Amino acid sequence: GWSMENVLDEEIKVIKSTVGTEDHVICALSGGVDSTVAATLVHKAIGDRLHCIFVDNGLLRYKERERVMETFERDLHLPVTCVDATDQFLSELKGVVDPEKKRKIIGKEFISIFDAFAHDLEQKLGRKPSYLVQGTLYPDVIESCPPPGSGRTHSHTIKSHHNVGGLPKDMKLKLIEPLKLLFKDEVRQLGRILDVPQGFLKRHPFPGPGLAVRVLGDVTTGNALDVLRQVDEIFIQSIKDAGLYDEIWQAFAVFLPVRSVGVQGDQRTHSHVVALRAVTSQDGMTADWYYFEHKFLDDVSRKICNSVRGVNRVVLDITSKPPSTIEWE
Ligand code: XMP
Repeated sequence: GWSMENVLDEEIKVIKSTVGTEDHVICALSGGVDSTVAATLVHKAIGDRLHCIFVDNGLLRYKERERVMETFERDLHLPVTCVDATDQFLSELKGVVDPEKKRKIIGKEFISIFDAFAHDLEQKLGRKPSYLVQGTLYPDVIESCPPPGSGRTHSHTIKSHHNVGGLPKDMKLKLIEPLKLLFKDEVRQLGRILDVPQGFLKRHPFPGPGLAVRVLGDVTTGNALDVLRQVDEIFIQSIKDAGLYDEIWQAFAVFLPVRSVGVQGDQRTHSHVVALRAVTSQDGMTADWYYFEHKFLDDVSRKICNSVRGVNRVVLDITSKPPSTIEWE
């Protein structure tokens, strides 16, 4: 019969026979569910002939690098090289305000780091890696190539997502996409069998360009990224503490490039404004803004203003998609 256990066994067989006993495989981990499950599966099939890279682009959430590396290494025993490329990304993003330009720069920097990783590996192994693992899901496949005449338009055409087909073509790597016939909930099931921690499998989606599309305008302005990380962490932690994380599709904070007047003690302040966004959705294509209890919002807002220096105003995004998108950029 059909079961996830069978899918797993079948995939492992296919990967083993595809890769053979000599070839090496590389994989870029994003910290998301899909690439993690895909890599764990391939690791189970070919062991340490899998070589993963995780890039800290300086646009990650609070303690994200530490948290995902702990899962990769301690829980999953994946062979991962962690590259801190914060300076490289942020210096390229300096002064850039156009969201699509930000995405292009981030995509390009990522490729250059990935290229260097592949070349270093080639030196070390004395042979080129031949395969690339990608966590492509079935909906990604359909979205990237909508059936002709279907009249479907997709977020890919609106924003340049780099999840699919965004890696260098001249590297001549053959693709391994072990999840390409699965839906998200099936990937989570598969992850559970592979002992990927439950909390990790339930993570909200996070965009490739990261906090760059959540700091409106120039991401390198002042301490915007740092402020955003602190606010986002308070918001997400409050959502988890209230037991709401799993009923929300995505929740995050946005840093607005404006200042507003406030008063703290008997001092006037002229500080930052942050927005909170939480939505429910089935697939990210449409979304509804999430109704929090007033008490919850009140607590979060106080907590943010009391503990994050430089923030004196918190606003809530009450638009659905459409007409808005989930992200602000
Ligand atoms: P939007 O903002 O288009 O987002 O309503 C729909 C879903 O896609 C995510 N998103 C991205 N993911 N690269 C990504 O990998 C991107 O450039 C990007 N832009 C949006 C967004 O977080 C939501 O889950």
